[in-house]
Formats: sequence, structure tokens, C-alpha cells
Amino acid sequence: MNTKEAIYCRKSFRSYSEELLKPEILQDIEKAIQGAKPLYPHIRFGWEIIGTDKVKCVQNWRATHYIAMFTEEVDGARENLGFIFQQVELYMQSKGIGTCWLGLGKLNAGREILEKHSGMECVMMMGFGIPEGEEYRKEVDEFKRRALSEISDMEDGRLECARLAPSAVNSQPWFFVHDNETIHVYCITKYLIHKVLGKMNKIDMGIALAHIYEENKETFEFFKTENPKEIKGHYYIGSIKI
Ligand SMILES: Cc1cc2nc3c(=O)[nH]c(=O)nc-3n(C[C@H](O)[C@H](O)[C@H](O)COP(=O)(O)O)c2cc1C
Repeated sequence: MNTKEAIYCRKSFRSYSEELLKPEILQDIEKAIQGAKPLYPHIRFGWEIIGTDKVKCVQNWRATHYIAMFTEEVDGARENLGFIFQQVELYMQSKGIGTCWLGLGKLNAGREILEKHSGMECVMMMGFGIPEGEEYRKEVDEFKRRALSEISDMEDGRLECARLAPSAVNSQPWFFVHDNETIHVYCITKYLIHKVLGKMNKIDMGIALAHIYEENKETFEFFKTENPKEIKGHYYIGSIKI
């Protein structure tokens, strides 16, 4: 399976074998992170691959490995993290490695890790490992997602990849507005769930953009327009050409 195909069958895995991934697999994941395209190349970010001993989480499932994601807190930082690490998520899923984004995780790391990433905050984690007893989705119908007509001002099949993207609590905060060749990308704020999730939804926006990038690697352009149209209950993230 390749990363594009992974978009249409991936899922969040919450059950893992206790067996650790081999060091060479972890090195390949490091390489996938280093090779991922950023949304904002100027924004400083960092990561650490850690074990369960360095993660505190109230949830009743544990992965065998985690990526702790660090970023400086500037405009676009969380969209950038979502964009980068969703490319890594698709890479792992395409190789049969289970993953799950983990907004509820807290880093319990020593001074060494914190000093290495000084000036940045650990704002998100992703659990991963060898999945146990769970399978990839076989049909697109197995994704619980809003219809294409609900996430865009026009039904555009090119946005199917974004429609299927994972998001915090499956909140799907994205809305797309067409303007000739350009598609303007907005984050929804009008519903309570989006108000509660706030910054987490910025990560989701980067994730959906990563799916569009994976489907359109050769042509994908992301940019900001000067006077984006205001839409009530939404804020502007950026614009794309694909
Ligand atoms: C930014 C983000 C944070 C998430 N945090 C958690 C979490 O803390 N715990 C959890 O079990 N799932 C978490 N998820 C997984 C979502 O619940 C999941 O992606 C969504 O329900 C859609 O399901 P799917 O990924 O299987 O398609 C998170 C997903 C994203 C994108």
C-alpha cells in the first residue's frame, strides 16, 4: 500500500501488541519525518520518539511508541504540525504500523528532552506500534464523516481525500470555498465542539491539507490571500491550488 491508498483505508488504532518495533523501522520513521514537507518552512518544530514511560494519559489504551511533537507558538504552528505529521501517519499506516493521534497525552520527559527542544512546547502526540486484532477499513462507507456537500460550497470529488481525514473527536472542522482555480480553506467555529477544541482544530486543518497534498504532490500550492472573504462562524486558514 502507498500513502495515497492509505488515505482511503486508514483508521485510528487503539490496540497494540506489546512487541516493540525494530530499531531500523524507527529509523525509517525518523527519515519520514525529516522528509515530510512543511506547510510553513520558516516555523521551527521538533519531535522525539519515546516509549510509554514518558507519556501520561487518562485514556484506557496505550501504544508501544509515541511521537512527541514540539513547536514554537506562532501563527500557523499547529496547522504546520498537523500537515507534517499526517504525512508521517500515512507513511506508517501504509507500512502496516498502527497509529493514533493523541491530544489527551501529556509528556512526562526529563530535562534532557525539554532542553533539546527549548523555546518550543510539546503540543501534540501520536501513539504508534504493531496493531493487534484490528483491521484497516475495507470500504469508504466505514468512515464516519460528513458528506462532501456539507464540507464545501460545491460538491468537488477532489476533496474526498480531505473529507476522510482524521480530526480530534472526529470534529471535521474544515470548510472549502471555490474561487475559479483557487480553493479557500476555512476552519469552523460556529458549533460548540469547535469552540471547545479551539487550537486542536488547527492541527486538524493541517491534517486535512496533508491529505490534499498527498493526492496532488506535483501541483499542490498553499498560500494566503490578502483579503479573504469573511464567512460567519469560520476563520480563514489559507488557500490552495491543486
Ligand atoms: C488532533 C487529534 C487528536 C486526537 N486525540 C485523540 C485522543 O486523545 N485519544 C484518542 O483515542 N483519539 C484521538 N484522536 C483520534 C480521533 O478520535 C479519530 O481520528 C477520529 O475519531 C476519526 O477516526 P479515525 O481516525 O479512525 O478515522 C485524535 C485525532 C486527532 C486528529
